[in-house]
Amino acid sequence: MFRLTSKINTNSEEFRASNSANSLAAKEYRNLLMSVMFRDTDPYVERHIARGRLLARERIDLLLDPGTPFLEFSTLAAYGQYDNQFPCAGIITGIGRIHGRLAVIIANDATVKGGTYVKETIKKHLRALDMSLENRLPAVYLVDSGGIFLPEQANLFADRDHFGRIFYQQARLSAAGIPQIAAVMGSCTAGGAYIPAMSDETIMVKNQATIFLAGPPLVKAATGEEISAEELGGAAVHTTRSGVADHLAEDDRHALEIIRNIFETYTKKDYDPPLKNYEEPAYRTDEMHGVFQSNGRTVVNPMEVIARIADGSAFHEFKAGYGTTLITGFASIMGYPVGIVANNGILFSESALKGTHFIEICNQRKIPLIFLQNIAGFMVGKEYEHGGIAKDGAKMVNAVANSTVPKITVIIGGSYGAGNYAMAGRAYSPRFLYCWPNAKISVMGGQQASQVLQTVSSKDNGGSSSGNESMLEQYELESNVLYSTSRLWDDGIIDPTETRNVLGLSLAAVAGNEIPEFKPGIYRM
Ligand code: COA
Repeated sequence: MFRLTSKINTNSEEFRASNSANSLAAKEYRNLLMSVMFRDTDPYVERHIARGRLLARERIDLLLDPGTPFLEFSTLAAYGQYDNQFPCAGIITGIGRIHGRLAVIIANDATVKGGTYVKETIKKHLRALDMSLENRLPAVYLVDSGGIFLPEQANLFADRDHFGRIFYQQARLSAAGIPQIAAVMGSCTAGGAYIPAMSDETIMVKNQATIFLAGPPLVKAATGEEISAEELGGAAVHTTRSGVADHLAEDDRHALEIIRNIFETYTKKDYDPPLKNYEEPAYRTDEMHGVFQSNGRTVVNPMEVIARIADGSAFHEFKAGYGTTLITGFASIMGYPVGIVANNGILFSESALKGTHFIEICNQRKIPLIFLQNIAGFMVGKEYEHGGIAKDGAKMVNAVANSTVPKITVIIGGSYGAGNYAMAGRAYSPRFLYCWPNAKISVMGGQQASQVLQTVSSKDNGGSSSGNESMLEQYELESNVLYSTSRLWDDGIIDPTETRNVLGLSLAAVAGNEIPEFKPGIYRM
């Protein structure tokens, strides 16, 4: 493959200005992350520590192979909602290595409203189960939860993707032969009791963990029976009498060691060692902040991004001279071959046809696809409508939807209109979807939406400028990446300089699974 040559002068004023503005934005974002991840002065955290228990993040650290990374998802879930009383939505999810094997980890944070579930907690938990199922990764549950957050029950209980879906998915994982281990390290009440009960092996921490369908107050109310939590569903009861749990742990650390021991028993051939033989990019990944300008709109040459994520900055471009607003080509990231589809302007018919062609090639060769999304949408206007842009865009959407190779999307700038669909937005089930801190996601820009509204409303009632101003404000708020990540439209915001590392670990997670045959739908000709 040819090595890409960067056109950027890293000594230029322009590079320095972008680098400093984007580094600052990334720093502000990191500070925000720290404030939700580490809440040392939070009285609930202090109380948890005083009870002699490990925090959810400490538990994860001890579970993983020392010195190996944890790819955490949706850290800012629920941010800006519920008066910020649900940092990280009260649950930590991510992928890490246990005895060399990648696993999905789901850990309740008992310091957030007793580890209870609101809508975003459920969404985050279900998303992690999807990752386990799609990528055939074992799932580990570190349970410490009071179940449903009762005041919100109407939004949490009975619908398809509500609390019950967790156990439905656990049953499907089990039938698919994917290992599931639960360690109950605190409470595990009501429906939540099915998390350990539906796992292959379950551990309970002595004098600390409880599992019951109804706690002592409810038992008293229902039957008049008076009983302590420990007698009703403590670790001793479940590991010696009921059989609901399999292993008794002395404390949190012991429970985590038992999980690691269980992983040690998995057949060795299933292990997926990290690849080692690859070249680093020829350009420094920490230059990434300088390669794009973002002031509401992101301006970036995708080749500069590819040069900083691809092994050896090597790229075999496909159809370089055709449909140039979409860049397509092959590369490797941390040793894993990939096909890259990257926006370089508005999508025209040619770019959509090129994208479709390339996606078909990757499916036939069974090469995972990386989408670098920065898209204002498809080209509009008479010439393009008459040229059939809708049917050409539809071909790309069809190919993306029916792709059987793993797709990973990074929104590095704007994500607007049908461009979001053709570039493997959330509705197109990419295995992972990340955003840069400058990402903007909405059906169209606020300015365009307010102009459209002004045009359509002026026909009937003269329009209203104050209405349009508030529409602008609304779009500004709703297209912000913090709004998107809070609602789990993505799997998390990543620092641009971390893009290569995050993609490398994501590719390790998708590697090694069988890829079904690709069958495209009907392309309108
Ligand atoms: N719904 C709503 N709020 C809940 C809750 C629930 N299921 N469980 C706990 N909370 C809230 C508490 O009201 C408290 O809020 P506050 O500090 O703002 O007043 C906060 O979470 C912490 O609870 P607390 O009881 O002080 O923490 P704890 O660590 O001592 O105990 C539990 C945690 C989960 C063991 C305990 O709160 C409990 O048993 N909750 C009820 C569990 C239940 O019956 N769930 C059934 C739902 S399916």
